[in-house]
Amino acid sequence: MRKLIKGNVYWVGHIDTELRQFHGSDFSTHKGSSYNSYLVREEKTILIDTVWKPYADQFVKNLAQEVDLTSIDAIVVNHGEVDHSGALPMLMELIPDCPIYCTAKAVDSLTGQYHKQWNFNTVKTGDSIDVGNGKKLVFVEMTMLHWPDSMATYLTGDNILFSNDAFGQHYATSGLFNDLADQCVLWNEAIKYYANILTPYNPFLKKKLAEIIALNLPIDIIATSHGVIWRDNPMQVVEKYAAWCDDYQENQVTIVYDTMWDGTRNLADAIASGMVEEDPHVTVKVYNIAKTDKNDVMTEVFKSKMIVVGSPTVVNDMLGSVAGFLHFMKELKMKGKKAATFGCYGWTGEAPKKIAEFLANAGYKVVDEPLRNKWNPDSDALEEARNLGRRLAKA
Ligand code: FEO
Repeated sequence: MRKLIKGNVYWVGHIDTELRQFHGSDFSTHKGSSYNSYLVREEKTILIDTVWKPYADQFVKNLAQEVDLTSIDAIVVNHGEVDHSGALPMLMELIPDCPIYCTAKAVDSLTGQYHKQWNFNTVKTGDSIDVGNGKKLVFVEMTMLHWPDSMATYLTGDNILFSNDAFGQHYATSGLFNDLADQCVLWNEAIKYYANILTPYNPFLKKKLAEIIALNLPIDIIATSHGVIWRDNPMQVVEKYAAWCDDYQENQVTIVYDTMWDGTRNLADAIASGMVEEDPHVTVKVYNIAKTDKNDVMTEVFKSKMIVVGSPTVVNDMLGSVAGFLHFMKELKMKGKKAATFGCYGWTGEAPKKIAEFLANAGYKVVDEPLRNKWNPDSDALEEARNLGRRLAKA
């Protein structure tokens, strides 16, 4: 399948409606994904990115129907990760001398993964190649968005920014364009992608957005490597990124816990109840992390101004489900969020304090004493938890 994007630019990627996990099992993809590859057919024929290896055979066959492979003048590799480079080995068997344009770090990535000495041409920001008909492909390094080798490519004349992972989402949508997509799903997947993948690079992103804006390039289309192609007001996603990279938060609190015999669960519900009683305008979301998708919960954490984390104490520590989620929270380096902790115990009760210490080390501002409850909470203990919720709502 191919689809005209604009002028002489075609989408030649693969829509993966069945994908449910990405990066191994690290990222849930409830709505599938796509690997967007593009063919620029001006006086020169240029392929931009490929697809993931399981779809390489189909990709190369489709491409060969579209164009005589030997007429491809160059391949642009915006990013070496296998979801975009996976079809290169098969393609390069057929056109071994075809020049590949990519960053120096992408050469490292591609040779490290495929162990082939292809015809690499390294580029940096501002370098370009002439594609004929008065148009050029201009390269823009996108270091740490999201990996060191990432870059974007801009087609002059048609004003298309091939942004690779940036501005993408894991969303398989047959219509391809943003105006044809379910807007609710689209924005959910866009913020989930940002929260779970791009958040640690907020400072780089701020700088890069400023740099892109300073280039003053007209942008008619942002052609990502996953999910929709932004053709209807493409700058709307750039504006969202500008907000998301600026220590984003909404008037929301997320309570995350695990529980053994429902004691810690009951504390979580009581804290939530005290919070909404004190502040009827705040959105409070409550999740058992052992029963909820971690990427969906992390998206809610990303949107929150405060996180309240609970675990019962087991062998002097928190449950592994909570420890794993905290580790993930620390990795993402979110800033400007408040935190509080709670949990039931039978004998020693260290978990809430340990969670608070971990969160403080991870950059969260802990705003109340850890709430510890011995054994199952009675009505007094539940009132104490509601009181914590009331205090947190005012914090
Ligand atoms: Fe979509 Fe970083 O690969």
